[in-house]
Amino acid sequence: MKISLCIALLATTATLLNAAPTEKTLSFPLSANPNYKPNPKNAVLKARAKYYKHLTSVNAQGEDGSVPMTDDSNDLEYYGTVEVGTPPQKLKLDFDTGSSDLWFSSTLCSGCSGSQTKYDPKKSSTYKKEGKPWSISYGDGSNAKGVTGLDTVNLGGLEIKQQRIELAESESDQFQKGATDGLLGLGFNSISTVSGTKTPVDNLIEQGLIKNPVFGVFLGKASKGGGGEYLFGGINKSKVSGEFTKVKVDNSQGWYQIDVDGGSAGKGGKIDKFNGIVDTGTTLLLFTDEVAKQAGDALKATDNGDGTFSIPCDNSEDLTLTISGTDFVIPAEDLIYAKQGSQCIAGFGSSGMEFAILGDVFLKNVYTVFDQKTPEVQFAKLA
Ligand SMILES: *[C@@H]1O[C@H](CO)[C@@H](O)[C@H](O)[C@H]1NC(C)=O
Repeated sequence: MKISLCIALLATTATLLNAAPTEKTLSFPLSANPNYKPNPKNAVLKARAKYYKHLTSVNAQGEDGSVPMTDDSNDLEYYGTVEVGTPPQKLKLDFDTGSSDLWFSSTLCSGCSGSQTKYDPKKSSTYKKEGKPWSISYGDGSNAKGVTGLDTVNLGGLEIKQQRIELAESESDQFQKGATDGLLGLGFNSISTVSGTKTPVDNLIEQGLIKNPVFGVFLGKASKGGGGEYLFGGINKSKVSGEFTKVKVDNSQGWYQIDVDGGSAGKGGKIDKFNGIVDTGTTLLLFTDEVAKQAGDALKATDNGDGTFSIPCDNSEDLTLTISGTDFVIPAEDLIYAKQGSQCIAGFGSSGMEFAILGDVFLKNVYTVFDQKTPEVQFAKLA
């Protein structure tokens, strides 16, 4: 969730979303980076990445970058530690496939929280000043702004050179109270708030750092010990059981947007087809209004009128979504997100928009592969 920290804030659920896209161009900038020294290994990796669909062996070269996640406040959000600069400064970032800006608290920020780590550009020998203004606001009303720079960003051992970073000069309350120092946007570059930005995933591909242009995501459940893992460049097969289901992505809005065939809830309740964005940075499963009503009726949940639903605390019914012909089950216990006194808040709600948001309540029940190049996502059941 970006970034509601208590159930009271769920009152704003109807807009609990996403970076306001300011720029919508679909081009992937392919211009050469003058500071990047090509080498033969990278050239091979780039060619392999280009034709990765046809590779018979993908293990020859390149690395996978594994970043362990911390599951914050009962699956509210998941953050990982990213190293920025030389020597590395460790920052806790909310990994978010629903936006495309990489920003964090910095020493330029007087209002940023004292409990946050502030990136200090003066302490990094690889920092380069750039000074473009940036400003982002998310659907829950949180926001941040500042100026850009360039520095080395280390994602799970993969060293991205000259990554554009966004240093916060100010940030809203929600971030000051939050557990993280900023966000790592993993969406498409067309919705970066600074136009022409190459996202970290763009640079992982372009700088030849990963062997496949994908990242695999496992999000844990607090009830099962929490944690999680993003694997850049690969898929962690030991977390997966069975086959992957491939789903075509519509990235015209800068998001991983997919069609869901429909599904079922409770005893015989039917859910119509809808489309939604695959968003690791949103806590709940937010349906379109009509589908939320179908799920609510089937699960005896009541609409609180603010995007949230209350569900019986003894709910024992599951919800199933069918995607590209495969059923994915969200078990009964995950349909109760939180207990508030004698009331229980459902793990699903309504987005208040024409599209749904497949947030963590769904994603913690599957292994997800994000493939930016095709583009597509793949889901598999968890081991
Ligand atoms: C893959 O998952 C296994 C089991 O959870 C874990 O032990 C291992 O470290 C992970 N591998 C990578 C490359 O992250």
